[in-house]
Amino acid sequence: TTVAGVAGAPVRHSLSPLIHNAWLAAAGIDGVYVPFSPPADSFIPFVDGLRGGAVRGLNVTLPFKEEALMAADDVSPRARLAGAANLLVFSPEGAVHADNTDGVGLLHAFAVQAPGFDPKAGPVVILGAGGAARGAAAAFVDAGSPQVRIVNRTLMRAEQVAGTVGEAAVPYPLDKAAEAMAGAVAVINATSAGLSGQGELDAPLEAAPAGAVAMDMVYKPLRTPFLARAEALGLRTVDGLEMLIGQAIPSFEAFFGRRPPVETDVRAICLEAL
Ligand code: ATR
Repeated sequence: TTVAGVAGAPVRHSLSPLIHNAWLAAAGIDGVYVPFSPPADSFIPFVDGLRGGAVRGLNVTLPFKEEALMAADDVSPRARLAGAANLLVFSPEGAVHADNTDGVGLLHAFAVQAPGFDPKAGPVVILGAGGAARGAAAAFVDAGSPQVRIVNRTLMRAEQVAGTVGEAAVPYPLDKAAEAMAGAVAVINATSAGLSGQGELDAPLEAAPAGAVAMDMVYKPLRTPFLARAEALGLRTVDGLEMLIGQAIPSFEAFFGRRPPVETDVRAICLEAL
């Protein structure tokens, strides 16, 4: 039996076990995917304890994504660029390899929910400058976006993210967000403002072109105030749940050695649990 899992704190609400176990069952693979909740201050010893090889790999979620880079013996270029890992794979020899499939998940979500979207067709706006924003910016730079505009309430953090992901990235303060939206093909909310209970994000979506796609990385609630506003403006929308499913596809492949049966409707299973 191949064992994989997800490590987070808290991990109780993670939808990843639902997704991976549904795929395992549908594909008839002898495997199991379990949640792990290591103490918040002992992630690295926890990973070291798994080097024996009993566990094939881990997805990593909050608050361990940055630490996961440090726990690894080698780090993929895309995880390095994102400054975080959501995937650790253990080799039989005990080495730990860090990767980041969030960028793949982000682009998968656009491909599924906004068919025809082309990241190369114009500038992309990322709202926020935390870990999620950096990952999204890295993904669009990688996908060949001509310009990635990083808009943040605290300009200095936008400048820091732009400085790490490369020349295509341009920082903007939140009060210049309307300028950043001009001509954009996508606007991605990577702030924590959509999360239940957090303050609302004051972003002038009406300044985005009618053909732009709006995306929120948050999926609790699934239809965030940001996405509701985008819909009201007639924009196409992409949600964070599809990104979660998208990042799980290459993770599953890394754990279980084959592509998951993506025709299995894991989205419906997740929607029931949300
Ligand atoms: P993560 O690493 O999960 O992305 P983070 O580092 O806490 O989270 O970053 C949260 C992001 O949401 C930041 O960009 C934050 O803006 P500041 O850098 O100015 O703090 C942004 N954010 C959170 N609440 C917001 C709000 N109500 N309006 C605008 N931006 C908000």
